[in-house]
Amino acid sequence: MSFPKNFLWGSATAAYQVEGAWNQDGKGPSIWDLYSKLPGTTFEGTNGDIAADHYNRYKEDVKTMAEMGLKTYRFSIAWTRIFPEGSGKINEKGIEFYSNLIDELLKYNIEPMITLYHWDLPQALQDKYAGWESREIIDDFVEYARVCFKNFGDRVKYWIVMNEPNVFIGLGYGIALHPPGLKDRKKELNAGHITALANAKAIKLFREIVPNGMIGSSIAYGPAYAASESEEDKLALEKYYNYNVWWWFDPYFKGEYPADMLKYNQEKYGAPEILDGDMELLKSAKSDFIGINYYCTQMIADNKEGVGYNGMNTTGEKNSQKENGVPGLFKNVRNTNLEYTDWDWAIDPDGLRYGMVQLKERYNLPIIISENGLGAVDPIDEEGNIQDIPRIDYLREHIIACEKAIEEGVDLLGYCTWSYIDLLSWLNGYKKQYGFIYVDRKNNLERKKKASYFWYKDVIASNGEKL
Ligand code: BG6
Repeated sequence: MSFPKNFLWGSATAAYQVEGAWNQDGKGPSIWDLYSKLPGTTFEGTNGDIAADHYNRYKEDVKTMAEMGLKTYRFSIAWTRIFPEGSGKINEKGIEFYSNLIDELLKYNIEPMITLYHWDLPQALQDKYAGWESREIIDDFVEYARVCFKNFGDRVKYWIVMNEPNVFIGLGYGIALHPPGLKDRKKELNAGHITALANAKAIKLFREIVPNGMIGSSIAYGPAYAASESEEDKLALEKYYNYNVWWWFDPYFKGEYPADMLKYNQEKYGAPEILDGDMELLKSAKSDFIGINYYCTQMIADNKEGVGYNGMNTTGEKNSQKENGVPGLFKNVRNTNLEYTDWDWAIDPDGLRYGMVQLKERYNLPIIISENGLGAVDPIDEEGNIQDIPRIDYLREHIIACEKAIEEGVDLLGYCTWSYIDLLSWLNGYKKQYGFIYVDRKNNLERKKKASYFWYKDVIASNGEKL
């Protein structure tokens, strides 16, 4: 068993969650800068104003990445640093920051992997035309992408256009947990379609500007099982996949929608609105890889009784998660075969293997795991050491699952843990930690390497042999 020689051992972050410096050097406000300050939107009112202050400490952070031997670092660009108003005037300071970050990574032979959109939409565009609800955003997004490709494409090979459109659209328009805080299925379907069009246009432009680069988007992937062998549960599982999973992967990676679900959505909600040329555009944009963010699987059951949305565990109180579902289609139930995290996410390494094999069969494209990790409250011992053993166990098992998937023929290009450093969890605050590096929020954001840091260093050095 072994990983390919040039396997991209990586780790990831996102601008809003790690950078801080929310209004420094000409950065404009994003929807998250405003939304997180509205009462009741985030865990204990936490926000990313300061985060891990990576904007000002990136050299120190890249140095520890280099010591660890990281092969790739996935980070996102804050659109509002490049275009404070979303479009129009460019902020040169923003270009300079990412250019310096890229150079710093390359100095240590760390391959930069850029995410163009990790949820921090310029507030100006939300105000101007309601952001992702309007097709006007497509050209503004593509212009922003063009500026990034032009300025960084000479040095950056790997690009992720969208991070989890299923999450930022689903939570923003379906269950009102993210900005703009709506529960409107019709808008959700239309906005989702617009993200796919923007993704496709950006990919087509990329081919002209960065001919040797590789591009894709990352979808939050929750493979699932039927709760029982009953026909009802098996049918519910199929509906779950078409409603929640293939609905998002197909337009991004096949240029189409699952036919039955398209019919269902158009009959029930009159959406998505598909105009002439849309499907041709989606078809014509070819991704080089599928990005997946994998944390857990789902167990799916029939939902005749009509269970709807009942909230999310954002406190870390284990077993507080209630059943959620889509009335008439399916519901998510507890999988009694699996352990759960304190945030009630099922720990299921084999689901990652299984999920990747499913993707290979459906799309036959290379895969990059752009996120995988354990959110937990890490223990600190008397000497101040962070023995995050559950994280090591979690990552080890998932890396083994990657090996198995490779053996089963999956073309896996890289694996990024979430996250490199402790950072802000959008809805769960700083309490839910994911990093290899602890950030002491009571002591000037001082960094400290956790046990998992040293463990992953060995994993990388041995190319996955020493787990
Ligand atoms: C993904 C996001 O959904 O999962 C990350 O891309 C996020 O930005 C990560 O932080 C973990 O989710 P959470 O809710 O535990 O922070």
